[in-house]
Amino acid sequence: MSKIVVVGSYVVDLMSRTPHLPKPGETVLGGPFKMGPGGKGGNQVTAAARCGSDVTFVTKLGDDLFGREALKHFITENVNTQFIKIDPGQATGAALIAVDDRSENSIVVSLGACGTITEADVLEAEEEIKEADIVLLQLETSIEAVVSSIKLACDNGIPIILNPAPFQKFPEDILYNVHYITPNETEAFELSGVEVTDEGTALAAARKIHEMGVGTVIITMGSKGAFLYNGKEKGELVPGFKVEAVDTTGAGDAFNGGFAFGLSKGLPVRDAMIFGQAVAALSVTKIGTAPAMPYEHEIKDFLALKGIRAV
Ligand code: RIB
Ligand code: NA
Repeated sequence: MSKIVVVGSYVVDLMSRTPHLPKPGETVLGGPFKMGPGGKGGNQVTAAARCGSDVTFVTKLGDDLFGREALKHFITENVNTQFIKIDPGQATGAALIAVDDRSENSIVVSLGACGTITEADVLEAEEEIKEADIVLLQLETSIEAVVSSIKLACDNGIPIILNPAPFQKFPEDILYNVHYITPNETEAFELSGVEVTDEGTALAAARKIHEMGVGTVIITMGSKGAFLYNGKEKGELVPGFKVEAVDTTGAGDAFNGGFAFGLSKGLPVRDAMIFGQAVAALSVTKIGTAPAMPYEHEIKDFLALKGIRAV
């Protein structure tokens, strides 16, 4: 079985459908409300676990109702919960999410406990990280957690995927130790200063990010696909799958979870990307974030229909 360690955020997602996203000062009469497990870390963990990975999650929760629900979720998903810490002094994080009729979203995320993961918390999971096939990180937690995870993984020769979402400033020299980075268009702009709108600008941004020290740059571009660049030639836009989207929240997380699974199984990067894209495509056909992640058999059936052999 492939082993993945995710260090990052868990927050509960409080989601409202709305005819349009509220303007400042506006109250909108919304549609249905849904509550469920989320956070970029939590979503990526759920996606990778449902693909069939053995996943360890390093995060922090509050000693509250949302925290207890979170633990139940990860136990149901067969995730190793040994390094999910309960901090009685903090609240479990929460995200306020509005999704409009065109499936656009806006999110405010309050990290609470998961924003305070320390180097010592990461070091507790040292043995798991040493045995991992992949370490998967986001920027939705303390930079201390990200930096110390990269150092530990790197010292032990474990490949790292950094999903730089949501973007926040970090010490750039860590990028020399990051094997794969997976920004979306906005995050690619934050990293490179190049606005990404098409293949040409994706290449320009990817080149800059590659020069910052990352081995492989993958810029996710929504329905356009994902741009792959590893320093050789002109890179390649790998098209995604066309599906009827009802909620794209967490699609990037689905991609990262699936991509990590693909790499952990030894797939070449491009094939692991296609696998991630299949996970993302299936996730947007369902409402919600972590609960919308597809299961192994659904991904295999989907890829088989497209004439692609799965892992
Ligand atoms: O990437 C989507 C996630 O970002 C949501 O689940 C929400 O929790 C936010 O943090
Ligand atoms: Na979804």
